[in-house]
Amino acid sequence: MTRVVAGNWKMHHGPRATRQFFSDFNPDVRPGAVRVAFFPPDVSLRAARESVRILVEFGVQHIHWEDSGAFTGETSAGMAKDAGASLALIGHSERRHVFGETDREVGLKVEAAARAGLVPVVCVGELLEERKAGRLERVLRRQVAAFTAPLGQCDRYLVAYEPVWAIGTGETATPADASEAHAIVRSALGELGGCPILYGGSVKPANAAALMSAPDVDGVLVGGASLDARVFARIVEAAAT
Ligand code: PGA
Repeated sequence: MTRVVAGNWKMHHGPRATRQFFSDFNPDVRPGAVRVAFFPPDVSLRAARESVRILVEFGVQHIHWEDSGAFTGETSAGMAKDAGASLALIGHSERRHVFGETDREVGLKVEAAARAGLVPVVCVGELLEERKAGRLERVLRRQVAAFTAPLGQCDRYLVAYEPVWAIGTGETATPADASEAHAIVRSALGELGGCPILYGGSVKPANAAALMSAPDVDGVLVGGASLDARVFARIVEAAAT
């Protein structure tokens, strides 16, 4: 499987910083060796598409589950597609834990992505207290079960395992931790389990290669280390080797 390296910019890089990023982003990889994706803020999507110099995919960080309506501040899957996104992050831990997004909403959003023809990148992951209490498998299976039915309606999809305790903390899961969780996610997906499963949580150039060589880890979803073009290029290069 071609490895996937995705950058989730979160609330960083407006249009001007986005153009600067892409003027500096030039990873030394053969075309097609790695699938590279970016999730810029919606307001920077156009600048990103206009200034990127290599083949990448773009996605949005968040969609609403309705196709249109009186939902101030929200963007629908169809609008994201129309603006040039082909992917949508769904269920990122910050959406779940900062904004209170529920498993049910995650399922509805996957359904909305399927309707619009957007490729969902659905995120799952346990809290530190859940891991410590031995509930890793139970939590992952519950999160996955909430979106398998709509996932079956999508032509393409990805899943990301992001342990909440490793996101933005500098704390990384070991390659063995990642493999264990990815195997659970794959098994919970059942017959839908042939998709790429990405690891996310404090991925950096120094740990990317080891994580991506672990069994069942098909790529990485990178937050902080995706904001600097040269640093992120090193992660893309690590995926190509
Ligand atoms: P991080 O974020 O790489 O900064 O830990 C990962 C993510 O939230 O997708």
